[in-house]
Amino acid sequence: MEDLIVTGPMLANVMADLEQNFRIHKYWEADDKQQFLAQLPDTQFLATDGHTGCSEQLMDALPKLKMIACFGVGVDAIDLSAAKKRDIRVTNTPDVLSDAVAELAIGLMLALSRKIVDADSYIRQGRWPVKGYPLATELTGKTIGILGLGRIGKEIAGRAQAFKMKVVYHGRSEKRFEPYTYYGDLEEMARDVDWLIAVVPGGDSTEGLVDRNIMKALGSEGRLVNLGRGSLVDETAMIELLQSGELGGAALDVFENEPEMSQALWSMSNVVLSPHMGSATTKTRWAMADLVVRNLIAFRDHLPLITPVV
Ligand code: NAP
Ligand code: 8YV
Repeated sequence: MEDLIVTGPMLANVMADLEQNFRIHKYWEADDKQQFLAQLPDTQFLATDGHTGCSEQLMDALPKLKMIACFGVGVDAIDLSAAKKRDIRVTNTPDVLSDAVAELAIGLMLALSRKIVDADSYIRQGRWPVKGYPLATELTGKTIGILGLGRIGKEIAGRAQAFKMKVVYHGRSEKRFEPYTYYGDLEEMARDVDWLIAVVPGGDSTEGLVDRNIMKALGSEGRLVNLGRGSLVDETAMIELLQSGELGGAALDVFENEPEMSQALWSMSNVVLSPHMGSATTKTRWAMADLVVRNLIAFRDHLPLITPVV
């Protein structure tokens, strides 16, 4: 059996599946990581997730590493150029999670516009009999600007149309076969939309893409939803603009230093918070896990990778 290092706990049945095919080594349980790695110098397989990823140092400590299977579509935590240099193959879990993430996007938008979370606590605090809940806004007729019309972005677009919203988008290039209006300039799009949904990958090329100017362009009636990565948004600027009312609201599933975040966000009624749970449904996590296992087995058996990144 081949050795497989697993960086963090996975679903129990996935671990069982992996254990049937590989000799598992639980990195997260080791007190002394260096000693743990030094004992496994011939390891060729590593399974990780989107948060832990795999650094160049970890690759250096495993000179025989040949494959990294990521539980997640975003691979910004894996040093891809270091992997390429070492001829290490990388796989991820695209498509199978797009529906779940798009559903959460719509859920967050509804929660923010119809103040569902705040209204729930209004009732629990016994305030309804005293005074009716204030009026809110609706999605119908509004314009949604999708930053990143990729696999997930397209699923959000389809659902937004069902809510009678107008869909526009920004990315590095126009998608000629998509029916939505393309903006080559993000700030221009932010000025024109009611909702800005960020669902581009993390990493150097997108860091701080949603900066103060973009959020100011979105404006006091505008709302930001971030489902991509925390690094996309200038969180300090966002908090200041939310506090001053220059940005209307935000619904956030991802954060710069998650699970930590500025506690200023906790008390804002124009903010909805979600603990990075875009893909967190039983069905989707199973499908993601299945891809992790099948990619590892395919590589071990010299078959084509199912969802290769590198
Ligand atoms: P995808 O199909 O690759 O789509 C990414 C989109 O981003 C593409 O349309 C791409 O379009 C655009 N893009 C990439 N770099 C850009 C840049 N520098 N500027 C502007 N646009 C850029 O990926 P996906 O499967 O939809 O996933 C997207 C991301 O969602 C993941 O990488 C991950 O970070 C995040 N995610 C979050 C959760 C969650 O639980 N919250 C779950 C899954 C995924 P162009 O090439 O035309 O620019
Ligand atoms: C995961 C994600 O929760 O797929 C992604 O990129 O952000 C989520 O599906 C994350 O990768 C943890 O593994």
